[in-house]
Amino acid sequence: MEVVIVPDARAGGELIAEAMAQLLRRKPEALLGVATGSTPLPVYEALAAKVRAGAVDTSRARVAQLDEYVGLPSEHPESYRSVLRREVLEPLWIDPNSFLGPDGTAADVPTACAEYEWELAVAGGVDLQLLGIGTDGHIGFNEPGSSLASRTRIKTLTQQTRVDNARFFDGDVDQVPHHVITQGIGTILEAQHLVLLATGEGKADAVAATVEGPLAAICPASALQLHPHATVVVDEAAASRLKLADYYRHTFANKPVWQGL
Ligand code: GLP
Repeated sequence: MEVVIVPDARAGGELIAEAMAQLLRRKPEALLGVATGSTPLPVYEALAAKVRAGAVDTSRARVAQLDEYVGLPSEHPESYRSVLRREVLEPLWIDPNSFLGPDGTAADVPTACAEYEWELAVAGGVDLQLLGIGTDGHIGFNEPGSSLASRTRIKTLTQQTRVDNARFFDGDVDQVPHHVITQGIGTILEAQHLVLLATGEGKADAVAATVEGPLAAICPASALQLHPHATVVVDEAAASRLKLADYYRHTFANKPVWQGL
């Protein structure tokens, strides 16, 4: 896995947006896997600026959702479908019909999960999957203990994740659903390129466990160690507990230009 230490969230956003832009120039119909949360916002903002400037064409781009709350109507402002419409599809001028996501309101959740796996496969798989990380090391909504081979399925959120996400529900943890549908870790690992962005001191322990800890279900993000093309972009605060930080800096500073992210 490659670790890139950037000065701040904005620089991380710009770096990843440029990798997405390069992908779309190479493959205009690329399927971008996107994440919710606060961390990826600088990526979407930097990519939207490129779209507005005419530096990248998103007219054929496709977007796939990583996870969704169970039971929130899709028009609820905090359903991830609504969040992604607002934060990704609209600013990036991406056709809403080019959006793939699981149905969090389905009466038959296992069937909805299997259908989403099928849709992803028929679409040819995700080209670049952007990931955030939970303070407990989750990716998507794969909480600690998730099988490293898991597929899209229902999960129960930890109380910590519900507390972390309460800020999107008027600070009221009781409004945060208990259940979610998430791409499994095995599903996520099938994307061609995984890019995890983590910023801030609050993510430093999770980042250290992901990059330098053992491969273990207790830190779901450590599964990135299994992927042949995984990039972890961190700001100085999120990198603060990495033992090999100087080596990662040296490696990136001396990277051959042709290699890209
Ligand atoms: C949620 C999402 C994750 C995201 C995490 C971190 O739990 N399901 O995909 O990575 O939040 O969010 P933030 O970036 O706001 O810290």
